[in-house]
Amino acid sequence: PSSRRPWVGGNWKAAATKATIGPVVEALNKSGEGFAAEVVIFPSAMHLESTKEALKVDAKIGVQNIHSAEKLGAFTGELVVPQVQDMGLEWVMVGHSERRHLFGEADAVVAEKARVALAAGLKVVVCVGEKLDEREAGQCRAVVVRQLDAVAAVVPAESWAASIVVAYEPVWAIGTGKVASAEQAQEAHKDIREWLEAKIGAAASAACRIVYGGSVKPGNCTGLGAQPDIDGFLVGGAALKPEFVDIIRGAQ
Ligand code: G3P
Repeated sequence: PSSRRPWVGGNWKAAATKATIGPVVEALNKSGEGFAAEVVIFPSAMHLESTKEALKVDAKIGVQNIHSAEKLGAFTGELVVPQVQDMGLEWVMVGHSERRHLFGEADAVVAEKARVALAAGLKVVVCVGEKLDEREAGQCRAVVVRQLDAVAAVVPAESWAASIVVAYEPVWAIGTGKVASAEQAQEAHKDIREWLEAKIGAAASAACRIVYGGSVKPGNCTGLGAQPDIDGFLVGGAALKPEFVDIIRGAQ
C-alpha cells in the first residue's frame, strides 16, 4: 500500500454511442459513492458535454487526444487546449497506442502535446507500452524509457508528481483479451518507477501514479491492483459496461 490515491480511467475510444453510454452513466450514478479512486472518463469529443452533464458522481471528464497548437485556430477536425479549458475539463490523454500506431504519432509529437496541455495547467495521462515483437525482442523497458524520455525532455520536472499519470499499456494486451500477468505488469511498472527516480527524482517517483491498461476486467483487476507499483487502471472495453463500477471499486 502506498500513499498514492488510486486512479481509474475509462477510455471510451470511438466505440461508444448513446445506447452504450446510458447504462454506464446510470451504473456510476447509482453507485452513489465517493470512490476511493480518482475516476476520469474519456468520451469521444462528441459525447464530452452530454457525459459531463449526465454524471452525478465524483468523476472527471477528459479528452482522448489533442492537437498540439496552443491557441484556437484553423485546425479542422482537431481539439485544442483552450477548448478543453473552455469546457471546464481538467484531463487530457496523450500517446495512446492507437494514436501512435494507427495514426503515426511519433514520440516527439506525443511529448509536445503533453507539454502544451501541462503548460495550460491541465493534467495529462501519458500512455506508453511496447508492441508484441518489441517484448519478444526483450525491448520492453527500452521502448517505454524511450517514450518517457521524449516527454521528460520537454515538460517541467515538477509535473510528474502532481499533474501526470503514466499509463502502461502493452499493445499486445489492448482489446485482445490477453491481459498481462500481474508479474509482467509489475515488472514494467517497477521499471517506470525506477526511471522516474533516476530521471526526475525520488519525490516524483513516490508520488506519480502508474496505471495499467490492456484487457482489464472486473475478474482480473484485483491481482493487478495488489502489485506494489500498480496504482490503478486505464480501461477500454470494460469501461463501456456497467461493471466498470466494479473495477473502480476494486482499485483501493
Ligand atoms: O486505453 C485503454 C485501452 O487501450 C485498453 O483497452 O479494451 O483492452 O481494455 P481494453
